[in-house]
Order: sequence, then structure tokens, then C-alpha cells
Amino acid sequence: MCAKSIALDGPAGVGKSTIAKAVAKELDLIYIDTGAMFRGLSVYITDNKCDPDDRGSVAELIKNVEVKISYVEGLQHVILNGEDITDRLRTEEISQVASVISQYPEVRKKLLDLQRKMAESEDVIMDGRDIGTVVLPNADLKIFLTADPKIRAERRFKQLEEQGKRGNLTVEDIQNEMILRDKRDAERKEAPLVKAEDAVLVDTSYMDIEAVQNEIIKLFRSI
Ligand code: DC
Repeated sequence: MCAKSIALDGPAGVGKSTIAKAVAKELDLIYIDTGAMFRGLSVYITDNKCDPDDRGSVAELIKNVEVKISYVEGLQHVILNGEDITDRLRTEEISQVASVISQYPEVRKKLLDLQRKMAESEDVIMDGRDIGTVVLPNADLKIFLTADPKIRAERRFKQLEEQGKRGNLTVEDIQNEMILRDKRDAERKEAPLVKAEDAVLVDTSYMDIEAVQNEIIKLFRSI
């Protein structure tokens, strides 16, 4: 029997990971967060003081890094050259570096095999920007999530505040950062952020997590 897959794409802060985790639990799928892989390489680039805008240096540097994914109590961990760097992935700096380096074909190529191999033998829900278009073009179900940028920024603001991580950031700062990242992700030549033709578009602006989750589960069960 072939492994099943759901491809979940969409812009920054649209709720992909929260929704993917919930759907994975309900449908007994493995959740694969591909953004975390780009973030992992970004940690390496930052640690090595490499300029993310210098494609040649980034391409050369990442030749030396081994990226592995492991699961600890169901949660995905990113291992770089044997070191677990998972707790360093979610900073503002790493978000921006990831968005810059993910434009480079050398970076995408490095991660593509790993992403595809992970979906070969397990039933998965994989989230990212190009899952339905490039990584898993034959996914059983493709979902493209979208939401108004202001609403996305407000959600992220609330989440940061709840985690005590907001610092001096305002909703506007967050919105500007998201718009910058989305523009870069959508306008790049290589595997841009775009809805696959056969993906189901779900606008989550006025839906709560449970409603989105239920919609995806319903779609998956009907295929
Ligand atoms: O989903 P995320 O915010 O963790 O992703 C971080 C960056 O990585 C995002 O701005 C673009 C890039 N990315 C990508 O190009 N392709 C993917 N499949 C996932 C992420």
C-alpha cells in the first residue's frame, strides 16, 4: 500500500503548523515541518557568520552540513551535524534569513530529497510553501491556506504575548515582517509560494482552528 500524504501550503503566520499538528493527531499522520529545515540551515549560516545575501558563500558553506530530522515524543527535532538546534529555530532573525536563503536552488536541492524520502514510507501531512507544487506533486490532498495579513499579524501578536516573547513588537511590525517575507517567498524563481492548481483554497480569516482542522479532515476522508 502506498503512503498517504497531505500537502499544506500558505504564507507566514497563517496557522499551518498548528493546524497540521492537530490534523496529524486526528488522522494518525506524521507531521513534517519543512520550514524548520530551512530555519535549521539558517542557524548554521548565522553561526558561521556567513552573509545570507551571498549565494555563493551560502552554497559552499551548506555542503558541509548534515541535516537530520528526528521525533521526540511526537515532536519534530532538527539535528545539524549531530547537534539538536530545535530550540533556536523560531527567532525573528532566523525567519528572515530562512526566507532569503530559501531562494537559492542549492539550498532547496539540499532539502528536497530529505523531504521526499520522509513521505515515501510514512503517512504524512507536510507543510511549507512548495509542497503541493514541487515536493509532493502527487499528494492525495493539497490545501492552500490563506488569511488577511492584518488578521495573521494579530494572531501572531497574541501568540507572542501569551508566550511572553513580544518584546517591543507591535502588530504593525509583525505585519510588515510577514508582508516582506511573503513577497520574497512568492516572487522568487525557485519553487515560489503559489497555490497548486489542484489545491483546495481555504481562507482562515474568519475560521477558528477547529473549523479549519475539521474541513481538512472532512476533505481527506472523502478522497
Ligand atoms: O514556514 P516557516 O515560517 O517556518 O518557513 C521559514 C521560511 O522558509 C519561509 O519564509 C520560506 C522558507 N520555506 C520555503 O521556502 N519552502 C518551504 N517548503 C518551507 C519554508
